[in-house]
Amino acid sequence: MFSTSSFTLFFVALFATFSLVASAPTPLERDVFSPPVLYPRNGTVWRVGERHNVTWDISNAPKQITNSIGMIVLVKNGLMIDLDHPLAQKFPILTPHHEIVVPDVEPGNDYQILVFGDSGNTGEMFTITE
Ligand SMILES: *[C@@H]1O[C@H](CO)[C@@H](O)[C@H](O)[C@H]1NC(C)=O
Ligand SMILES: *[C@@H]1O[C@H](CO)[C@@H](O)[C@H](O)[C@H]1NC(C)=O
Repeated sequence: MFSTSSFTLFFVALFATFSLVASAPTPLERDVFSPPVLYPRNGTVWRVGERHNVTWDISNAPKQITNSIGMIVLVKNGLMIDLDHPLAQKFPILTPHHEIVVPDVEPGNDYQILVFGDSGNTGEMFTITE
């Protein structure tokens, strides 16, 4: 037999469980993909003129994406460099790598790679040398 207080506790627990479930985020059909850059990463050094594969993570890519075409832009000190001439563009974003040629930019350790799918994600800061 239940005492009054254990009965109350039971309903409090039931209500708490229900609110938890009700407030859990509803899984939405995502279709926006901004791929996280994996390489280059902190400690990477690229020389001007070298060829390298930029890589990104597609494990969280939604099943249906609105834009499957990618673009790679170089960023220095937080600013996009020469958006008119991206390092690469019009490649399939669901292939998680793309080869680029390191452009003839001034040496620095504040470069980042920005990979655009639907929107962009910058990777870690890395170094470009002569
Ligand atoms: C980039 O990756 C492609 C495919 O794996 C490979 O064929 C190519 O040699 C790589 N390029 C460099 C510079 O490593
Ligand atoms: C990476 O290296 C730069 C210096 O080159 C440093 O300023 C930065 O804090 C480091 N970490 C990340 C996550 O970019």
